[in-house]
Amino acid sequence: MSNKIQIFDTTLRDGEQVPGCQLSTDEKIVVARKLEELGVDVIEAGFPISSPGDFLSVVEISKAVKHVSVCALTRARKEDIDVAAEALHHAKRGRIHTGIGSSDIHIKHKFNSTREKVMEQGAWAVQYAKAKGYEVEFFAEDAGRADLAFLAQLVEAVIAAGADVVNIPDTTGYCLPHLYGKRIKYLFDNVKNIDKAIISVHCHNDLGLATANTIAGLMNGARQAEVTINGIGERAGNTSLEEVAMILQTHKDLDLTTGIKSTMLYELSTLVSEMMRMPVQPNKAIVGANAFAHSSGIHQDGFLKNSENYEIINPSDVGVPSSSIILTARSGRAALKHRLELLGYQPNKSELDQLYDNFLVVADEKKNVVDEDLITLVANTPILV
Ligand code: KIV
Ligand code: ZN
Repeated sequence: MSNKIQIFDTTLRDGEQVPGCQLSTDEKIVVARKLEELGVDVIEAGFPISSPGDFLSVVEISKAVKHVSVCALTRARKEDIDVAAEALHHAKRGRIHTGIGSSDIHIKHKFNSTREKVMEQGAWAVQYAKAKGYEVEFFAEDAGRADLAFLAQLVEAVIAAGADVVNIPDTTGYCLPHLYGKRIKYLFDNVKNIDKAIISVHCHNDLGLATANTIAGLMNGARQAEVTINGIGERAGNTSLEEVAMILQTHKDLDLTTGIKSTMLYELSTLVSEMMRMPVQPNKAIVGANAFAHSSGIHQDGFLKNSENYEIINPSDVGVPSSSIILTARSGRAALKHRLELLGYQPNKSELDQLYDNFLVVADEKKNVVDEDLITLVANTPILV
């Protein structure tokens, strides 16, 4: 089995569904070109039957990108698949992503159907999409809550119908990592001809486990990860691309690789956040404003002695220019001295002691002490003049 993980980016489909995040076709083209440069393998560009705007976006993204595969979402319906096939006409590599609910909850309460009928419809949709001449990916919606033996039968049926990729979504973000991993392993152990398709993982973050579940799926044989920039997506979001890429880059022991140019991650995060008007939470892993910021005295001292004491990733590896030391009332002398030196001051020990006492007064008042405050502090500390 290959150790290369395909990165399937759905920022422009699952991510763009979020209220307030809608982009124009021109904006989507800008994001798609950047995603291609970043090194993703597949861009899910939209759901063409859902609106004329989404149809146009899939057409224009198909023309705009050079080698990445462009994917269009459909339900397991003839009219959806016909429209998606038309929208992908200009794609150098096109993929139809079709599927249907696989949990009993979805089968009964969404489709008012039966397991047998759902299986038949899923296999039919794959066959119909395959005849259009594109790659076909099948999604078993709500697979995280599906009966496992039935899920295995469904996966086997869609592979027999010609699916190139089978997506096992945890649509509701319900699974625990070890159980999601076990689900994927069960499929590898029980589905005939599973090696004929790539198994894909698509996780939602309702319990904050999307990335952990994705990694568990990859560790159990899945070879495609469905992700979004900044983890944007329905409700609590999707698995974040930058987290998966950096977990695999940091944990060489997993022996899994991607084609992602990690030094572009911060740029992509900023682009998507600004265009989609969706701020990144400051403590977001990898790309949040505090991801490489050190604020407590103990951490700052250790970081200044050797950055590896408190950083497992070099910020430049993800395109963040440098780490930062935030001066607060929790900072110690080492951090204050470091920031003063950056400003060109070289206080000796007793000067630093006096500055530090005055600094604490300012820090208690201001919470976050910036360079201008330090310049004023030095000017107001008589020992230095
Ligand atoms: O979460 C989900 O199940 C989806 C499918 C449409 C793939 O987004
Ligand atoms: Zn989804």
